[in-house]
Amino acid sequence: MATIVVVGGTGYTGGNIVREAAGRGHAVVSISRTEPSEPLEGVRYELGDVGEVAARVVPGADVVVACLSPRREMVGRLVDVYRELARLSAEAGARYLQVGGFSSLRPAPGAPRFVEGEVPEEFRQEAFEGEATRAMLVDDAPADLDWVFISPAGSYGAFAPGDHQGHYRVGGEVALFDAEGNSSISGTDFAVAVVDEIDTPAHRRAHIGIAS
Ligand SMILES: NC(=O)c1ccc[n+]([C@@H]2O[C@H](COP(=O)([O-])OP(=O)(O)OC[C@H]3O[C@@H](n4cnc5c(N)ncnc54)[C@H](OP(=O)(O)O)[C@@H]3O)[C@@H](O)[C@H]2O)c1
Repeated sequence: MATIVVVGGTGYTGGNIVREAAGRGHAVVSISRTEPSEPLEGVRYELGDVGEVAARVVPGADVVVACLSPRREMVGRLVDVYRELARLSAEAGARYLQVGGFSSLRPAPGAPRFVEGEVPEEFRQEAFEGEATRAMLVDDAPADLDWVFISPAGSYGAFAPGDHQGHYRVGGEVALFDAEGNSSISGTDFAVAVVDEIDTPAHRRAHIGIAS
């Protein structure tokens, strides 16, 4: 059993990961500013701004999963917040998993990342800030930090929760598509994949993508 700190553990991504990890018997600590509408038994909900709460919670972690989103008050803050989470995780000797965006993937080996091409206006800010958090890890993460940057499929998110399929695929930084050319993953399948990576670490200082 590991102590897993899920930063943004009441959000779409974090909430699914908290449920999956707690269901497998891990000690789960969720960080958010507000209480969840349906708290899960056995999960410790630490309330407050990440900048204040992480400093006292991360030192006890085996694994930290970063699931904030660059929206609302977090716009423009995410790179600095994640740099500090990476530092705290390294100091604690904790593994660090950071969830980012589909746009940080590449359509083909060696091709520019999606974020370097045409990004629809409604996704631009989130795509650029998510990509900046990936670059921060690659360029600035503490040398001894065991990190994984995880991009979900293109069709993923609270707007498209999808049905649980019970399977997923893990790729590298080249996006995975199905036979019909779709890239999708349900919230619950994504959470299973993330907690599988926690239970059986298969990647180190790597960018992976998860799709059905
Ligand atoms: N297809 C894609 O590429 C795709 C689609 C969706 C999401 N994503 C990525 O997945 C990640 C998670 O997104 P999401 O949609 O799951 O997030 P979300 O539902 O918006 O959840 C954000 C979480 O962070 C918490 N939070 C926000 N500000 C905070 C603060 N200052 N201090 C502490 N907690 C705070 C929120 O709770 P409170 O508000 O109560 O604090 C909530 O628990 C992001 O990186 C996003 O870009 C990618």
